[in-house]
Amino acid sequence: MNFLGSHILSIDQFDTNDVETLFSVADQMQPYAQRELKTRVLEGAILGALFFEPSTRTRISFGCAFNLLGGQVRETTAIKASALAKGESLYDTARVISGYSDIIAMRHPMNGSVEEFSRASRVPVINAGDGSAEHPSQALLDLYTIKKELKINQGFDGLNIAMVGDLKFGRTVHSLCKLLKLYKNISFTLVSPGELKMPELIVEDLRQAGHKVIETEDMETALHDKHTVYLTRIQEERFSSQEEANIYRGRFRLNQSIYTAHCQPNTVIMHPLPRDSRAEANELDNDLNQHPSLAIFRQADNGVVIRMAMFALTLGVENDIHKTSSEVHWYTDRRF
Ligand code: CP
Repeated sequence: MNFLGSHILSIDQFDTNDVETLFSVADQMQPYAQRELKTRVLEGAILGALFFEPSTRTRISFGCAFNLLGGQVRETTAIKASALAKGESLYDTARVISGYSDIIAMRHPMNGSVEEFSRASRVPVINAGDGSAEHPSQALLDLYTIKKELKINQGFDGLNIAMVGDLKFGRTVHSLCKLLKLYKNISFTLVSPGELKMPELIVEDLRQAGHKVIETEDMETALHDKHTVYLTRIQEERFSSQEEANIYRGRFRLNQSIYTAHCQPNTVIMHPLPRDSRAEANELDNDLNQHPSLAIFRQADNGVVIRMAMFALTLGVENDIHKTSSEVHWYTDRRF
């Protein structure tokens, strides 16, 4: 794809060269994300951050990424805090906000809403999650995390991954499957309750692309021989009632004893977060918090460099980052 001036709405837009380009720019962003250097390359630019659904990581890391490149952020954080609550259309909102911004990141509870919004926008729009459909920036940071954790230099061919939990409504796993589909000979073991299986269309696409897909409800067996286990939360906001979501909460849980009994000693543990830490759910136990293979917080950190790279490429400044670079003057020491 040509990043310059493009909307980024779906992983379907990417090929392996695009991924390589993005990861290479993300690597260059590390000293800025680590606060060793600062840059003003986007000084004067404005990000419109429209989050019409709750978010901690995606909203804050998109904002931090833009700030770290020297730009400013204007945001709204709920439908009820915007004129959508007064009946304004996505079309009108897009026409207005794209007049105020150089680029927009948007999350919305309805599948396809970000694409609809982008058609009326005068500036590039990045999908920060649309309903249960897609979360492309999350998939990109997930794959970047796999690359870093497994110390992979080239491609992801032969990766053996288990995805666990709510695979029906989990948009992060939908986008990650589409991204991994670009490589060769991936083994997917999809663990979910029968009612929350990965959409058939995605599974069929993976099989047609030559990948191996096993669907199962036996998590413990599924954990054997995996490079990575990717856990997800029951997406309670997509169910018609809490009672319905409660049926599935706590069905699959990974903790220290299950990991030790069934995983390889260095299987990478991932989760897009938030994890549901309430006792009745607890899909990823706190007793793994100190485990060296628990990548979840490094994974969240990687969201900053990936989103910086998305902004730099879309706004055409990827070769200018270092031109306005200088050292930071404040005390900075992230210990763990
Ligand atoms: N992973 C993710 O999308 O987290 P948030 O909902 O906190 O943005």
